[in-house]
Amino acid sequence: MSKTPEYFVGKTIIITGAASGIGRAAALIFAREGANVVCVDINADGTQQTAERVIAQGGKALVLRTDVTSRKDVNEMIRRAIDTFGNVQFQFNSAGAALRRSKFLDIDDALFDDTFSLNVKGTFHCMQAILPHMLENGHGVIVNMASMAHRRGGPGSSVHYAAAKGAVVSMTLGVAREFAQAGIRCLSISPGPVRTPFQSAAQTSPELMQRFLDDVPMKRFGEPEEIAELVLFMCSDACAFMTADTVYVNGGGGWR
Ligand SMILES: NC(=O)c1ccc[n+]([C@@H]2O[C@H](COP(=O)([O-])OP(=O)(O)OC[C@H]3O[C@@H](n4cnc5c(N)ncnc54)[C@H](O)[C@@H]3O)[C@@H](O)[C@H]2O)c1
Repeated sequence: MSKTPEYFVGKTIIITGAASGIGRAAALIFAREGANVVCVDINADGTQQTAERVIAQGGKALVLRTDVTSRKDVNEMIRRAIDTFGNVQFQFNSAGAALRRSKFLDIDDALFDDTFSLNVKGTFHCMQAILPHMLENGHGVIVNMASMAHRRGGPGSSVHYAAAKGAVVSMTLGVAREFAQAGIRCLSISPGPVRTPFQSAAQTSPELMQRFLDDVPMKRFGEPEEIAELVLFMCSDACAFMTADTVYVNGGGGWR
């Protein structure tokens, strides 16, 4: 089945991590399709810039400075999104980070807790806060950002991050299956390296950069738009039978 033309016109998506990288690319792509975009991030300036670009494209945007690790912030964000646009059909949880590279034996409790707080609890808070609204509507699509790291385990640099993204994949699976008959779909995306500020921060040496590239048969990084277009497809009615799984986008690379 092809996507209904104008499917996204007048519908609303909440995007966390909208100040930068993949979240920003998704905001612009959904605006292109005529959707209202709730731009959510802890970085107020970056979120404002994304919203200005959405508006410059003729779209409607709401800017909310929100720390997804705070349940209070997230509940307030959802309330304001619904108050502003009436209905929210989609949520893309892109806010996340590895925070710091560390060998396994050097991962301290603070790094472990902060990484889980951002990537796992942040996603958990956002899903729990929007689901009652989606259940009331009998419709909704949630897309969560995982990572190829969950398949690789992050040896030598980021086991904390890989484990957190593994939890995102599992949580997505569980939510999708729990609400499958209620009109809700929930999916995750597991990208390989994508050219964003997140990735620039990770490339602490030319050797590490080369190691990333060596892993990718296409010998390049992904572009944020190459992930964001998948988010659009996942949210569309062309993707109606797909839920629960994670989709790998990695130029052919990784665990093979
Ligand atoms: N870029 C990659 O190579 C890559 C690969 C796999 C997975 N990912 C995942 O994709 C997602 C997006 O990453 P990106 O590459 O666009 O990175 P990015 O750094 O460009 O964007 C991440 C955004 O999350 C926001 N953020 C951080 N902490 C937050 C908090 N507590 N509350 C709200 N917002 C917060 C940041 O301000 C930033 O705008 C992340 O979940 C990341 O783990 C990225």
